[in-house]
Amino acid sequence: MDGNGRWAQARGLPRLAGHRQGVEAICRIVRAAPGLAISDLSLYAFSSDNWRRPPEECAGILAMIAEFATEDAPELVAQGVRLSFVGRRDRLPRMVAAAMLGAEVATVTGRRMHLRVAVDYSSRESLLEAAHARPRTCEDIDRSLACPSVDLLVRTGGEQRLSDFLLWECAYAELVFVSKLWPDFAAADLASAVAEFQARSRRFGAVPAWLLRLGLLQPLRACPEEADIVSVRIVEMGMLPAPRHLGGRLGEFCAALHQPLAERREVRRLKVQPHAAGLQRLAALKEMDGDRSRASTFMP
Ligand code: FPP
Repeated sequence: MDGNGRWAQARGLPRLAGHRQGVEAICRIVRAAPGLAISDLSLYAFSSDNWRRPPEECAGILAMIAEFATEDAPELVAQGVRLSFVGRRDRLPRMVAAAMLGAEVATVTGRRMHLRVAVDYSSRESLLEAAHARPRTCEDIDRSLACPSVDLLVRTGGEQRLSDFLLWECAYAELVFVSKLWPDFAAADLASAVAEFQARSRRFGAVPAWLLRLGLLQPLRACPEEADIVSVRIVEMGMLPAPRHLGGRLGEFCAALHQPLAERREVRRLKVQPHAAGLQRLAALKEMDGDRSRASTFMP
């Protein structure tokens, strides 16, 4: 959410006026995001390094966070949005921490989207904390962190850094940098960022055919069409006697899956009616514990 200060400065206003306008942008984006099939949205409101700012700016930002938590919670409930805060709470004014907790409790049943707001947050500190539990696998660390892995990271205001935000979670994030200042950021800008994300080819270090075999093409949260394709892919694979068949219709899926989404719409026409054997196979796969075991089933 960079650019609040510059937005205010350009108008001869105090920096806090820029942050106030930034809250308006937050409300716009939170309203628009579920419509773009975004199920998890994380905002970096106050980093642990932001304590280095003048005390009145820190106090002003924290007061806006408390106000947002108190006054906007009913609207979040109405929108089906769950609000959580990530970061340290022990250094926050008690009233601010209480307002944050109140909003978390009030919105806990929200299922349409999970909004996480990072306050007094440092990614390095959360990784350090995760290390105290002596993790042995990457999944152990995933489980101890408060945010899921990031598909798309958008940074406004022309900045091109991660600034200690979700360092682990962004391992395979697609990065989109926008020169617009945060107070001017609109729903259409978020939609453009999502469209840019959808046009990218994500390979997670593999090559496309192997992605398919390893089951690594997960349904993308921001992309319902992709989810369709993936579920069809599973049914389709279930109907095949062996994974070595990469020709025919499955070959077409495979080829289509690493085209930009815009060119991929055709693939939906390939959708097959799952027959009984396919459905049985799919049911068996669902009983296994997730993508990894599914992957080993299809290893050549
Ligand atoms: C970065 O821009 C912005 C911040 C450090 C604060 C963001 C806080 C809010 C928008 C208000 C409160 C948040 C919620 C969730 C209600 P900057 O100040 O560094 O701007 P600059 O890059 O122009 O200097």
